[in-house]
Amino acid sequence: MFKWAKLFGWFGKDEIDKTVSSPNGRVKCRFAMKSGELSYSVLRDEKIIIKPSKLGFSIYGETPFGKKAKLIREQTKKIDETFELPWGEDRFIRNNYTETTFYISETAEPNRIMTMRFRVFDNGVAFRYEIPAQPKFSRITVQDELTEFNLDLNTVAWKIPAYQPDRYEYNYEKSYLHELVHSVHTPLTLRTPAGNYLSIHEAALYNYGSMTLKLNEKRILKSDITPLSDGTRAHVSLPFQTPWRLIMIADSAIELTTNRNMLCLNDPPRGDFSWVKTLKFIGIWWAMFVGEWTWAPGERHGATTEHAKQYIDSAVRLGISGLLIEGWNDGWEGDWLENGVNNKFTTSTPDFDLEEVARYAKLHNVELVGHHETVGFIDNYENQLEEAYNIYAANGIHYVKTGYAGSMMTINGRREYHHSQLGVNHYQKTVELAAKKRIMLDIHEPIKGTGIERTFPNLLSREGARGQEYEGGALSPSHACFLPYTRLLAGGMDYTNGILDLSNSVKRMSTTLARQLAYFITIYSGMAMAADRPFIYEERFPNVYKFIRDVPTSFEKTLPLAGEIGEYYIVARKDRYSNDWYLGGVTNEDARRIHIGLDFLNDGSYIAELYTDSEDAHYRDNQFGIRLERRHVTRNDSLDLYLAPGGGFAIRLMPQ
Ligand code: NOJ
Ligand code: CA
Repeated sequence: MFKWAKLFGWFGKDEIDKTVSSPNGRVKCRFAMKSGELSYSVLRDEKIIIKPSKLGFSIYGETPFGKKAKLIREQTKKIDETFELPWGEDRFIRNNYTETTFYISETAEPNRIMTMRFRVFDNGVAFRYEIPAQPKFSRITVQDELTEFNLDLNTVAWKIPAYQPDRYEYNYEKSYLHELVHSVHTPLTLRTPAGNYLSIHEAALYNYGSMTLKLNEKRILKSDITPLSDGTRAHVSLPFQTPWRLIMIADSAIELTTNRNMLCLNDPPRGDFSWVKTLKFIGIWWAMFVGEWTWAPGERHGATTEHAKQYIDSAVRLGISGLLIEGWNDGWEGDWLENGVNNKFTTSTPDFDLEEVARYAKLHNVELVGHHETVGFIDNYENQLEEAYNIYAANGIHYVKTGYAGSMMTINGRREYHHSQLGVNHYQKTVELAAKKRIMLDIHEPIKGTGIERTFPNLLSREGARGQEYEGGALSPSHACFLPYTRLLAGGMDYTNGILDLSNSVKRMSTTLARQLAYFITIYSGMAMAADRPFIYEERFPNVYKFIRDVPTSFEKTLPLAGEIGEYYIVARKDRYSNDWYLGGVTNEDARRIHIGLDFLNDGSYIAELYTDSEDAHYRDNQFGIRLERRHVTRNDSLDLYLAPGGGFAIRLMPQ
């Protein structure tokens, strides 16, 4: 008979109570072993924000660990370093924390050991479990992780549900923690009754189930690691370390959006990634969503050689570097969700000549973005993965968008969650193999971001939230006002921005025109899609389109300026490769006037190009109301801007 053991919640006589303080002392984490339980708590300005919370996990088939456990050593170090990212929202990231590592051992047979590592930042706390290789303990099966986040139940939470068929693609809901019924995904953003803003997330998720959160029977928020189909949470060999459990801490919602702890907790790149480049691209894509073309072959097939060449010509005229082509491969016929099990990633439909399209793209200096829709049939995909990447690489295709539609994955013949250990390992395999082939990825229906793009910068973007494909009824203007404070704390997102055909009868957008431009600033993506059909840009809105052409895909610096969760978000970003600044803002259903001081600019005069909502614009009945204006400003000026209901603005500032 197997016994269920609580690995790290033990009953040793030795009591410990240790405090790890952040560099400026405002954040403290207390690590305690008391009355047989291992726990931590978090203080901000000497006030408790996370009450004593259990640590540990249950291991399948192991005898209880730690009945005679002892702290054998502890080690503290202080790190203050700045690292450079090859692309992203900020070029330089300061990594400043106090780390204390607690080494714990059993004092009797089988003398197992483990390590708890804490990192305390001025704006967050992170910790992870590390189990070294040891003679009597070489593989473990995690039955449950016991980590708790013991918060006041009157804390407000902004959440999306876990274990649902559409993965992370849900609308955010605000509720009190005590109202939480089901498991929710991270980042889980919270506001405590004392007014602290927190977000619970994880960093460096490898070879383990993704952490979701739920209230346990004692009404304490607890980790709920996504299970495998065998009911366990993970099977691992030692040495093993869990992902970092991360609690971001801020005094305001807008300050939360500057938190870069997740990236700090990931390793620097392994290997040479100097070939990685961010990309702006159009696509044989929205035409399928609005019913003009189809993914499947037939009369209205989108991915034909002819259409691809036309779009390549458009990309050249539009000054856009890339083109995504979806539906080029065999397998989209009939019910593509059902039939996806047979998708071919190595053969194209008869009306699409991959070599010829690749040749034409190269001739015109346009980067193709390949596409693999796996429909979650991982066995089928992995059987073809290497060859499929090789075909792209051989045709000079360096960017691939992948997709995992479907409510579950099929892995080793079993149905598994996308965010289970097996799902996590599959996504990782694609990222690492792509890196070897010098391919950059934009993953739709991905595993959530945990900062691994710091280590694998070829992972340029993800979807992983409800994007504009849900327009036409399922998106409200508040959605994009939740994202910066929730999903985007997990990294960039391919929201498929820039759809200007707002009143399309099949997919009516819930935005104004200016807001579609704002998204290029408020929702960062290393692979930024200008998602509408090219004729919309070229023929209907050439002047508005100018902003889409100008906006960069990599920034030197990001300055979130103002906002409230689900209400509005205003941000300024400096281009990585020029002295231009870009400003973007979005609001929910409410109109808003905002005042922006420009003191972040350098001395001297700037030309400001403004794309703002007209005073009579409205996402419901006057979507196209936009004002285009050009004026001169300096750092002593300020801007007074109007955001219409469901509206926004975009601004480019260029030194003269
Ligand atoms: C869902 C993705 O989000 C979308 O971008 C893609 O076009 C479809 N799946 C089909 O692969
Ligand atoms: Ca999607």
